[in-house]
Amino acid sequence: MKILVTASSKHGATDAIADAIAQRLRGAGHEVVREAPQDVTSLDGIDAVICGSAVYMTQWMEPATSFLRRFETTLSRIPVWAFSVGLSGVPKHSPQDPSRIGPVLLKVRVVHHQVFPGRYDPAMLGLRERSIARLAGAVEGDFRDWTAVDAWTDSIIDDLAAR
Ligand SMILES: Cc1cc2nc3c(=O)[nH]c(=O)nc-3n(C[C@H](O)[C@H](O)[C@H](O)COP(=O)(O)O)c2cc1C
Repeated sequence: MKILVTASSKHGATDAIADAIAQRLRGAGHEVVREAPQDVTSLDGIDAVICGSAVYMTQWMEPATSFLRRFETTLSRIPVWAFSVGLSGVPKHSPQDPSRIGPVLLKVRVVHHQVFPGRYDPAMLGLRERSIARLAGAVEGDFRDWTAVDAWTDSIIDDLAAR
């Protein structure tokens, strides 16, 4: 199958998760198009889509939300999986719950929406972002769970095989 893996990332943590998903799908024999959402001009020939975004201030990033809007009609005809990357789920002082981005996804019916923990590295951020994150009680660290990413990708591979 030909699968589009697309994700919005500001500081790279989400992009690396999308890359890992793409690589695993390729390993399972799928043809994968790995593109940023703003670069996608057509979904012709695409059999399934995996779309993700980092969560900032409880929201998906604009390129990912406008991708879902732009291709709303086509996306209603093919299976779509979504993933959100944020710091909620990270123990202690969790920032806002990424499930609040739900209304964005409601426009497109997804097979499954997965939340993955991300990374908070103050050294990568500007002063404003650092202050917001600190106020929200963000815990410093890289909380990405590659085993969970692989497991979710495997569930997609199984689902596609059953279709
Ligand atoms: C200013 C700021 C706001 C954030 N807001 C949220 C939020 O509302 N919910 C959440 O779960 N994570 C939030 N985060 C955490 C990011 O989603 C997390 O750092 C993520 O890994 C960033 O991904 P990226 O490197 O792909 O941009 C925020 C981080 C920053 C710096």
